[in-house]
Amino acid sequence: MKFFIDTADTDEIRDLAATGMVDGVTTNPSLILKSGRDIAEVTAEICSIVSGPVSAEVTATEADRMIAEGRSLARIADNIAVKVPLTWDGLRACKVLSGEGHMVNVTLCFSAAQALLAAKAGATFISPFIGRLDDIGLDGMQLIADIRQIYDNALFETQILAASIRTVNHVQDAAKAGADVATIPPGVLRKLADHPLTDKGLDTFLADWAKTGQSIKT
Ligand code: E4P
Repeated sequence: MKFFIDTADTDEIRDLAATGMVDGVTTNPSLILKSGRDIAEVTAEICSIVSGPVSAEVTATEADRMIAEGRSLARIADNIAVKVPLTWDGLRACKVLSGEGHMVNVTLCFSAAQALLAAKAGATFISPFIGRLDDIGLDGMQLIADIRQIYDNALFETQILAASIRTVNHVQDAAKAGADVATIPPGVLRKLADHPLTDKGLDTFLADWAKTGQSIKT
């Protein structure tokens, strides 16, 4: 499974990209607001840090305006994936933009039927929002499994991009359910390496090593 990071904070992106774990980035209008920066400027900087897909979201709600905004965002860099919402206008824009060869990420997906429409519209990525479904007492992970089954049955190539990830378990479970990609907030990505037994074991090894009085030549 590929890892994207879900942020427009370029310091975080730079820091995490150095781990070799970052295959792409997703942004949205809320994350651009949080960054406090101009969308074109911050998106261009992100694209210069990460060579994989960088999702940048349109803000128009009518198809023709979405298409114009999508073309404009796609001019920022070759690795832009234009993000459109899962509405009929968004699906129309997806069809046109993907037909022109642009990567398209269809976002705000909350049902398997919506995911089916996105695939038929030629989406590169479909973004089911796990956390927001869990927030209202529904099962976000079941949606990932349902979309996996539907896409496999129909041989759709649209990649399932598990979004609205809140926990380490969300990442593990999305991988088990067959998501192609998870877009992960930086704090959650950092937590993926944590385990108390790793810390405890390392403390013991280092204490015993100190007692040997040895050092490894470098
Ligand atoms: C990613 O593409 C989404 O915009 C993001 O994962 C939404 O996450 P949230 O529900 O935590 O805002």
